[in-house]
Amino acid sequence: MKLDVVTIFPEYLQPLRAALLGRAAERGLIEIGVHDLRNWTYDVHRAVDDAPYGGGPGMVMKPQVWGEALDAVCTERSRLVVPTPAGRPFTQAVAREYAEQEHLVFACGRYEGIDQRVFDDAARRMPVDEVSIGDYVLVGGEAAVLVMVEAVVRLLPGVLGNPVSAEQDSFSDGLLEGPSFTRPEVWRDLTVPDVLRSGNHAHIERWRRDQALERTFRRRPDLLTLLADELDDHDRAVL
Ligand code: ADE
Repeated sequence: MKLDVVTIFPEYLQPLRAALLGRAAERGLIEIGVHDLRNWTYDVHRAVDDAPYGGGPGMVMKPQVWGEALDAVCTERSRLVVPTPAGRPFTQAVAREYAEQEHLVFACGRYEGIDQRVFDDAARRMPVDEVSIGDYVLVGGEAAVLVMVEAVVRLLPGVLGNPVSAEQDSFSDGLLEGPSFTRPEVWRDLTVPDVLRSGNHAHIERWRRDQALERTFRRRPDLLTLLADELDDHDRAVL
């Protein structure tokens, strides 16, 4: 998979070279390009923004600069992802969809956003998604790109040491993942639940499912509403 990021803060994307993502790049599983938007400016000030039509606070990023940048970075096989608090929610389902793509291009806006025509124009040639990573406002899209790239890349074949990890994640079955324990059996007078040491795999599976159901009910009841049709009688008895 190829991933390109266009930003006015290329150094902010350094973490893409570290840890799991860095190893995936070294092993040739992904190819990451980070591009400085100012490479596509031609004035002495290298200006990327201008005052908004209609007035109001803040600045809007200029269409000419973004247009040239995206012409250079995108192909007819790209999918353009624009992080914005005004976007559709980025979820595990969206991460799975992105993991199937050949080329993702992330356009990081700052200030009050990017001239809307940049996306309307790009949408004539490729899919364009405006996405939000949560109901809060960041200063720009860079941190959101780090979040999305990590969520997508860990789903690619060969990236995680143990592929079962991704299958058992929170959200993969629509529920939050329950608690985990390792040795020692007693730590600061707190004990590991007996069932996990029983060796009875059917009981362990049932216990894990119950824990996941209870946790989801307490922390994210909205997720259970979505799952209502998939719960069996035992699941309902737990809730
Ligand atoms: N840019 C600023 N806030 C954002 C958010 N919540 N999600 C994605 N991009 C953003």
